[in-house]
Amino acid sequence: MFERALFLTLVLLCCEAQNVGLLSSIANSTRYWMNDITKLPIVQQISKVSGDLLVQSVDVLTKIPLAMARSLDLNDVIFPLFTSDSNVVDLTDQIISEFNSGLDNEDITLNMSNLVTKYGYPIKRHQVTTKDGYILSMYRIPNNGSVVFLMHGVLGSSDDFVVAGPESGLAYLLSNEGYDVWMGNSRGNKHSRQHLVLDPSQSAFWDFSWHEIGYYDLPAMIDYVLQVTKTNKLKYVGHSQGTTSFFVMASQIPEYNSKISLMVALSPVAFMAHVKSPLVKLLAPGTPLLHSMMQSLGVDEVLPDNIASRILRRVLCGVGPLAEIFCSNLIFLFVGFDFGQLNVTNLPVLYGHIPSGASVKQLVHYGQGVVSEDFRQFDYGDSKNLDLYESNVPPSYNLKNIVAPVSLFYSEADWFTDPRDVDKLYKRLGNVIDVYKVPYEQFSHLDFLIAKDFKPLIYSRLRKLLRDV
Ligand SMILES: *[C@@H]1O[C@H](CO)[C@@H](O)[C@H](O)[C@H]1NC(C)=O
Ligand SMILES: *[C@@H]1O[C@H](CO)[C@@H](O)[C@H](O)[C@H]1NC(C)=O
Ligand SMILES: *[C@@H]1O[C@H](CO)[C@@H](O)[C@H](O)[C@H]1NC(C)=O
Ligand SMILES: *[C@@H]1O[C@H](CO)[C@@H](O)[C@H](O)[C@H]1NC(C)=O
Repeated sequence: MFERALFLTLVLLCCEAQNVGLLSSIANSTRYWMNDITKLPIVQQISKVSGDLLVQSVDVLTKIPLAMARSLDLNDVIFPLFTSDSNVVDLTDQIISEFNSGLDNEDITLNMSNLVTKYGYPIKRHQVTTKDGYILSMYRIPNNGSVVFLMHGVLGSSDDFVVAGPESGLAYLLSNEGYDVWMGNSRGNKHSRQHLVLDPSQSAFWDFSWHEIGYYDLPAMIDYVLQVTKTNKLKYVGHSQGTTSFFVMASQIPEYNSKISLMVALSPVAFMAHVKSPLVKLLAPGTPLLHSMMQSLGVDEVLPDNIASRILRRVLCGVGPLAEIFCSNLIFLFVGFDFGQLNVTNLPVLYGHIPSGASVKQLVHYGQGVVSEDFRQFDYGDSKNLDLYESNVPPSYNLKNIVAPVSLFYSEADWFTDPRDVDKLYKRLGNVIDVYKVPYEQFSHLDFLIAKDFKPLIYSRLRKLLRDV
């Protein structure tokens, strides 16, 4: 137990250190740590399994997390299916060739505006300043129908709604129906790294979690959109943290409920007691410790490529071409994926646009929720809590305040959004008008953006809801 905790502590300690001058010395010490770490039995065990087997066969990728989950007693985790009846070797070759065929796609490097323009849609960038000084970018694909506002998840951006391409990207599908599509970007992501006085190189810039995104960013963006489009209500579609931040806004500033004619929650995240992701379960108990260590190292921003993610990748996935393909994105390690719905050819494009940046505090706030089993404000520790909230324990968000009509989309296999947590949310919300469980067992957290069958599994239901409201 202790060794495992030590290992994770070390991994997280060196995490996200690229924005400080400490980087090279941390890299150096990591080399020494790595020597020690690799002597730990748990690591030896995991890397033996991964090293020996992953290179040879595809389905081992599912066994490694499975072994981890068992050791953590996560009996109910559903792991991605890599193989069906097909021959594993053939399948491996096929995956590699599909991935390689996607590598010269120019969409990998096109930015948001150029990408959308390439597919023949108009796009315009708008900027709005929040009450606390952050300058946020929004993208609009204008049309003459009613306004739909799309809000991305943690480590995501507006790009999330177009990376799947014109066949199944939500922004394109909505635009085809005539909707006036707006896409938000929360503070700190690649499109919203500006502030009136602060700079991303300063710690103070990163002192926010999804609480502030819900409390400041969403109201600023929504008011701006309503003002420009001269309407008084919009339809809101959020994915993951895009739902968390909505619940913060609508419970903390209830007058915003009247500006929302419908809220669609794709993979809603509020209660997290039953989160399935093995990595999250593993890391969550150490949240307070990890957070204070990162603070003392001056690490405020989550960066996609760093020593920690490289170590995690190596330990969890081993080496070999498939590991390179599936484990090269930090996001997949945390949220899992569903091979059956994955467009491998499009994976390079996805990797070119996700992840998009976030603050450490956003992840810490989620980690707190896993431990506390409650949906509540950021926990600063007893004394600061007393100052801020006049209570040792942070206040819970009052979900009964959310009276805007809400529709919940969830799935059985989602590593972040467990049906039991959705049920709890459903019972507390003030006005749920629709609950939809995706009729595809392996559907993953990211499939709500990028599934091959996005149209039949998600969009057909969504379309009806938007039309009928
Ligand atoms: C890291 O190690 C290299 C080679 O061992 C050395 O040249 C460099 O000065 C070290 N950097 C720090 C910051 O300790
Ligand atoms: C996107 O790229 C184009 C040229 O490649 C550039 O002119 C434009 O400013 C970029 N947009 C943003 C928001 O960076
Ligand atoms: C909406 O735009 C379409 C073309 O994009 C046009 O044919 C239609 O007349 C417009 N409708 C209104 C009400 O402006
Ligand atoms: C899969 O990705 C390729 C390459 O980006 C794209 O051309 C194709 O339309 C995608 N398939 C689906 C179902 O979206």
